[in-house]
Amino acid sequence: MAFPTHRPRRLRQTAALRRLVAETRLHPADLILPVFVREGLTEPVAITSMPGVVQHTQETLRRAAAEAAELGVGGIMLFGIPETRDATGSASLDPEGVLNRGIRGVKEEVGADVVVMSDLCLDEFTDHGHCGVLTADGVVDNDATLQIYGQMGVAQAEAGADMVGPSGMMDGQVAVIRQALDDAGRQDTAILAYAAKYSSAFYGPFREAVDSQLTGDRKTYQMDPANRREALLEVSLDLDEGADMVMVKPAMSYLDILRDVAEASDVSVSAYQISGEYAMIEAAAANGWIDRDAAVAESVLSIRRAGADTVLTYWATELARWIKEGRL
Ligand code: PBG
Repeated sequence: MAFPTHRPRRLRQTAALRRLVAETRLHPADLILPVFVREGLTEPVAITSMPGVVQHTQETLRRAAAEAAELGVGGIMLFGIPETRDATGSASLDPEGVLNRGIRGVKEEVGADVVVMSDLCLDEFTDHGHCGVLTADGVVDNDATLQIYGQMGVAQAEAGADMVGPSGMMDGQVAVIRQALDDAGRQDTAILAYAAKYSSAFYGPFREAVDSQLTGDRKTYQMDPANRREALLEVSLDLDEGADMVMVKPAMSYLDILRDVAEASDVSVSAYQISGEYAMIEAAAANGWIDRDAAVAESVLSIRRAGADTVLTYWATELARWIKEGRL
């Protein structure tokens, strides 16, 4: 008696069989490395809650970019931490500001080999830590913020950004940035829209990474974790406004959203494996509770399988090295 008739295990017997039938693969070109550059540093500074991640000096930032380029990483996303902050985040517009200098340095270093992307948001630059400017009542002023975002987009494009990443979740931000870029003759600068960005507790370690000044939360502009349908609205608005790529963020707790967006979007979809996701795996591994390398690879693979074409991950360079060495 031949029983059972179906034996899916047949294709799981050897590494070669498993490799042959794998439906999803990791490739360095699908990975985007987020990096932090801080003004006034002479040495890189470790970020306690993100073991292995640092705030870079301009010099070490360039080296990190060169290393990523060497390993074939697809993109690099820059975040800047200024020395002085004010109510309107004016350091974000200064061509000599930390982020714009960082973009220029990275662009000089990697040229056209890696897509140079920059965070387009005010939270690192404001003394209150919100992603926009505030009204007299302390409420985030959507439309006043948009004007600054437009100028920021132009400043970043002029510094050399190939793609800007508006992450502030202001209504209409993609349209205003697109218009400002076009008016400045920057038709070729692309926009990676943080389309469905949720108000998440898992951003915690990032707040240390950028020395965030925020008290309170971002619930009046970032999405409510309870909502799924609304993500599709956000994505369709961003596509209407001219987004070249769209993103879902965070990744791991939002894989259902990612799948929905992947099905609905006719442009490339990114997912951001955020600081808290990184920190949880590193912390569990440091305790010996999980196999670090296997968990890292599985986490990023799962995000790709759920529908992300590209993944922002703090492990991008390390994963690219494993892939190059044939370990993945
Ligand atoms: C806002 C921004 C944040 C992150 C990326 N861009 C923080 C926030 O929205 O509070 C979080 C990234 C991470 O946690 O890794 N500029």
